[in-house]
Amino acid sequence: MAVRKTVLITGATGGIGTAFARAYVRNRYNLVLCDVNEERLQAMAQQLQQEYKCNVKVLVANLAATASVDDLIVQLQGIRIDAFVAAAGYGEKMLFAKEDIQASVSMIHVHSISVVQLIHAILPQMLKRRKGDIIAVSSLAAFIPAPGSSIYSATKAFVNSFIESLHMEVGQKGIRVQSLCPGLTHTGFHKEADIKRFDKIKGLNLWMEADEVVAASLQGLEDGHIVCIPGFINKSIKHTVPAIPRQSFYKLVAKLTDIDR
Ligand SMILES: NC(=O)c1ccc[n+]([C@@H]2O[C@H](COP(=O)([O-])OP(=O)(O)OC[C@H]3O[C@@H](n4cnc5c(N)ncnc54)[C@H](OP(=O)(O)O)[C@@H]3O)[C@@H](O)[C@H]2O)c1
Repeated sequence: MAVRKTVLITGATGGIGTAFARAYVRNRYNLVLCDVNEERLQAMAQQLQQEYKCNVKVLVANLAATASVDDLIVQLQGIRIDAFVAAAGYGEKMLFAKEDIQASVSMIHVHSISVVQLIHAILPQMLKRRKGDIIAVSSLAAFIPAPGSSIYSATKAFVNSFIESLHMEVGQKGIRVQSLCPGLTHTGFHKEADIKRFDKIKGLNLWMEADEVVAASLQGLEDGHIVCIPGFINKSIKHTVPAIPRQSFYKLVAKLTDIDR
């Protein structure tokens, strides 16, 4: 009987992380789930084990804290990881000058530094097997700097650039990498007010469900999409932004952004 592969997912109890966990388990992977809240992680592991009779290991880590990431990497030693999904993250709604600098630094850790550290820890075993999949969840915001999310957009732009370079380094060595750039997706990421505000703009439904995002990502991996933008509207936004003169772009984004200056 074929040995089940294993996927490591951070942000596993979140909307997109959970959708990835379900998609991988349906593809007969065992799960190593990582998140910051132990209670939620255990509850989710139990539910998936019951539903799918799969193997689930849980690892609690705060990816904003260097010591916690170091500890996670130690715990991962000796575990075969065939696929890695970095889905941990959260939003920002604060002018940079007003933001606690520690909060800014924490976000850089969660979205960028911990992703680099974890990929660096997992990559050698994948390279040895000449096989492995890595998906880092970035954002459409990587292409749309905006007031109130200066650090968020920058961390996601970092991920895109890092993953594209990584692809050029390891793509010929059996490793498939992807920077997944969702737009608005119904998950715990958004507060009710934001969901209402972006409900429809000019009659367009800007929202996707986490399952749809994950399906696009996994298909994108098969199709060799290194930067994967799920959904027609998100793709259209990504292609339209560079065509807008920059000064007009700044005015437009400022107008659409609900931030108290
Ligand atoms: N939803 C969207 O519209 C959207 C759009 C573009 C990109 N994204 C990206 O998609 C990824 C997944 O987000 P989501 O939409 O699934 O949101 P979500 O439902 O809030 O899930 C995010 C998960 O990350 C975990 N997390 C947050 N801080 C962490 C930390 N310091 N250490 C470890 N885990 C931490 C959260 O745990 P707690 O809940 O316990 O804090 C949560 O389980 C994020 O990287 C986000 O930037 C989301």
